[in-house]
Amino acid sequence: MNPAPPTPIEALDEAQAASELAELAAAIARYDRAYHELDAPLISDAEYDLLRRRNDAIEARFPHLIRTDSPSRRVGSAPATGFSKVVHRVPMLSLGNVFAPGEFAEFCARARRFLGHSAPFAMVGEPKIDGLSLSLTYAHGRLLRAGTRGDGSEGEDVTANVRTIAAIPARLKGEAPALIEIRGEVFMTKADFLALNASQERTGGKVFANPRNAAAGSLRQLDATVTAGRPLSFFAYAMGESSEPVAATHWAYLERLRQWGFAVNPLSRHVENETDAPAFQAEMAERRAGLAYDIDGVVYKIDDLGLQGRLGFVGREPRWAIAWKFPAEQATTKLLDIQIQVGRTGALTPVAVLEPVNVGGVLVTRATLHNEDEIERLDVRVGDSVRIQRAGDVIPQVLGVVAEARPAGTHAFQFPRRCPVCGSHAVRAEGEVVWRCSGGLTCPAQVEERLIHFVSRGAFDIEGLGEKSVHEFHELGWIRSPADIFKLPAREAAIAQLEGWGEQSAANLLRAIGERRRIGFARFIYALGIRRIGAANAKLLARHYTDLNTFIERMREAVDPASEARAAVTSIIGIGPAIAEELAEFFGEARNVEALLELADVVEIEPEEGAGDGVLAGKTIVFTGTLPTLSRPEAKALAERHGGKVTDSVSKRTDFVVVGADAGSKARKAAELGVTVLDEEGFRALLTREPSA
Ligand code: IVH
Repeated sequence: MNPAPPTPIEALDEAQAASELAELAAAIARYDRAYHELDAPLISDAEYDLLRRRNDAIEARFPHLIRTDSPSRRVGSAPATGFSKVVHRVPMLSLGNVFAPGEFAEFCARARRFLGHSAPFAMVGEPKIDGLSLSLTYAHGRLLRAGTRGDGSEGEDVTANVRTIAAIPARLKGEAPALIEIRGEVFMTKADFLALNASQERTGGKVFANPRNAAAGSLRQLDATVTAGRPLSFFAYAMGESSEPVAATHWAYLERLRQWGFAVNPLSRHVENETDAPAFQAEMAERRAGLAYDIDGVVYKIDDLGLQGRLGFVGREPRWAIAWKFPAEQATTKLLDIQIQVGRTGALTPVAVLEPVNVGGVLVTRATLHNEDEIERLDVRVGDSVRIQRAGDVIPQVLGVVAEARPAGTHAFQFPRRCPVCGSHAVRAEGEVVWRCSGGLTCPAQVEERLIHFVSRGAFDIEGLGEKSVHEFHELGWIRSPADIFKLPAREAAIAQLEGWGEQSAANLLRAIGERRRIGFARFIYALGIRRIGAANAKLLARHYTDLNTFIERMREAVDPASEARAAVTSIIGIGPAIAEELAEFFGEARNVEALLELADVVEIEPEEGAGDGVLAGKTIVFTGTLPTLSRPEAKALAERHGGKVTDSVSKRTDFVVVGADAGSKARKAAELGVTVLDEEGFRALLTREPSA
């Protein structure tokens, strides 16, 4: 039987959702029995995962329809191959960093500009523990599901393990909403970490590099009884989705968390006025060494949850919270060598190979030297003693040379003029600091790096196709371009013959490839590995151009810097001239376009979520002048949240021009072109209309 393709979750009505949840519960129970009790699986792990994910996704949209026999409520039925997935309806994001009072003040000023506010913010300061963030969903006060952050939109289901952590309540005390997701940090204290490592050493177990790794390793155990034996702690600090509002301020929310039975970091402080944050920061820096756990800074959150909602997110970071980090930790060690790495865009990056040194609990063996100019500026030479620093998650950096310690006979480093991988000429463009290999897609380092990026998590996410196999298949000449990956099924027998493969692994790989033939448009663009097009920019492009043909057509036109298409890309807010230039460079190379068209033939691209829905879907909007209540960034975010595209310049393709006070030439141009002109009120009215009117 060939089932009809499933209805998109957004299109399900309640009755359909309820009936599908019933079917899924019955089917999954049957598959679980076959798998666990009879050891005779009826479907593949991947097919099973798909069903569970669909079940989770429907439940996330219709929490009131969660059944008592829902598969998400049963534990211990995850496939033995790993954890099943949890989808985060409200993405789990990261935080921007600041390091100095001025940067912190600038963060506050940005938020104020966004809101069009003038009063200083009340904030909450919370010590930032470097552990793992965890999402806990409670239905009617009972712990239903626990998930790791994963890539922010999808994490691992660690419910069974989390049930063994004493610091996490299985039931919320007192009144609780029908559905609430609570977030916080799982961590290990310094003392628990040392004791665990000592005992691991005695018993020949794994020794962990730092408390964070120990916490992660302990939580992500397939056997929950192992987690149960590990000393994990937890502080709750954030909100995910909720079926009803639970507080008006973050401070009040923390109080509710305490009432529900969570540990909330007792050092958290209500900072009445943002200008008091530097004093709190200094106090925490002072107390840092004496704390039972490692902290690397303080997280400041704007207290008013209403303002948080309006501020929203930019890229992967909230506009309402910031991590103010303590100064980076430094150490001195010896520079053993300078190696040149070739990245997927052909950039030659010098890397310092160091005598291993412990920097704030992490063993550092390599550090970046950035580029030729940096090496010259520091006059760093092989054999020197160098000062290095590690700040947060960033790659360690070389800060400088200990001049007095320079041994005799060193010489200045000569930056190579050829690519160390393919031998092509290296070029350094006028005004740029980076040397690049000119070998393009013929340079193995670039091809392999591009392919590795192509199959990586945020891109095509092909399980079982890691760096090693990409290298192997590339060496064999089986994959030279991304499209070749989708032609691997023709080589199934040959793959099975390779050392370390076999029929089962080959079949698994091909299944994984098959599953990824359908891909969202933004991921597709991101997968191309164009410089400066990270996930956030890919999303902007995907929403703007909606389909591949339009995108390719416009990008080829945009190769001409004087074209209207170039002006149009540059006018997408968030995409500046430098990014447009990178796009033009990529699309100006015929081989790239060829590879892209070849790829388009073998995959199926789905329009970006949000591009096709919302009342403003497919509409282009220009804002001009000062609106009475909405700041410009807020207006833009609002339009985008409803599926619209916001650009800077008015053309015949513009659908609406929203004008405020002192609007200039754009309002005139709109009138000339006959484009609909609205004021803020008209714009707001538009948003409350039914879609596709
Ligand atoms: S709030 C959208 N509060 O820091 C904001 N995060 O760099 C979500 N972290 O992934 C985070 N202490 O693992 C928040 N008091 C705190 C935190 C905290 C530690 C971690 C968390 C997050 C990371 C972001």
